[in-house]
Amino acid sequence: MPQFNETELTAAVIRSFEDAPDARAKFLLQELVKSLHDYVRRTDLTFEEWNYAIDFLTRTGQKCTDIRQEFILLSDVLGVSMLVDAVNHRDRDGATETTVLGPFYVGEHKVTPHGTDISADLPGERMFVQSRVTDLKGKPLAGVPVDVWHADDDGFYDSQKANYATQGPSSRARFITDAEGKFHFRTILPCSYPIPTDGPVGEMIIQTRRHAMRPAHVHFLVNARGYEPLITHVFMEGDKYLDSDVVFGVKDELVAKIERRTDAVMPDGTPASEPWHLMTYEFHLKPGTGMAPAPLGVKVAEDA
Ligand SMILES: [Fe+2]
Repeated sequence: MPQFNETELTAAVIRSFEDAPDARAKFLLQELVKSLHDYVRRTDLTFEEWNYAIDFLTRTGQKCTDIRQEFILLSDVLGVSMLVDAVNHRDRDGATETTVLGPFYVGEHKVTPHGTDISADLPGERMFVQSRVTDLKGKPLAGVPVDVWHADDDGFYDSQKANYATQGPSSRARFITDAEGKFHFRTILPCSYPIPTDGPVGEMIIQTRRHAMRPAHVHFLVNARGYEPLITHVFMEGDKYLDSDVVFGVKDELVAKIERRTDAVMPDGTPASEPWHLMTYEFHLKPGTGMAPAPLGVKVAEDA
């Protein structure tokens, strides 16, 4: 019977995966074992700490539901989501920068006519969003589904509210680009918001004296056939949390100047009785492949 010391044990566990039929899975598992064992050795991890870690991960899993994903949140606040994003998007070649998907890509994003106010029932300062989707040479891409979602004026997404099951989606929709690659819609100005702090991830953020805030943004998922799916945000210039996003998701190129306007009508002719805001942002897609993630709570990914 083999007797292992702390380094021989690592080699033995790595060897135990030697016959795994899937080469990539074998590589990922062996590297995971190396990193985990290194962590235990470097930290002289105690039994108490190991038990705490197991309990923390257990509670993280138990907090998840069909429409709540505490593990995405954990990945986000540890910077893992942005690191996976970085290693997969090393060469942008002029394509729009990417950022985290986040835990609030939830439920059906209904195809919605251009110009619709997707936050019609919500209080807040009104905003008109106009956008265009092109390839890297500026050629408009028509018929492209663009999913949009953002927090409300109180900093919550629709799926975080008690009435989500009965009221359905709010401040989220799918637009299809027109022949010029354009789409536009109305909404409210989103505000900066804290990630959920009623679960183990939020508790960790509070206990470690980090702040839980994300700078105001609108999420976009642009999914055109023959192009890499683009998962990104547009952030509001001037937000005080741009330099300290709790999920490390801000990139300079994704920060947009949101113009405050006093015109009596919005660009599509909608009357405006009070000042409003204008967001203008273009998305440039890189040729390629890849599957866009399915929203939480939706069993089968919709075919773009
Ligand atoms: Fe968000």
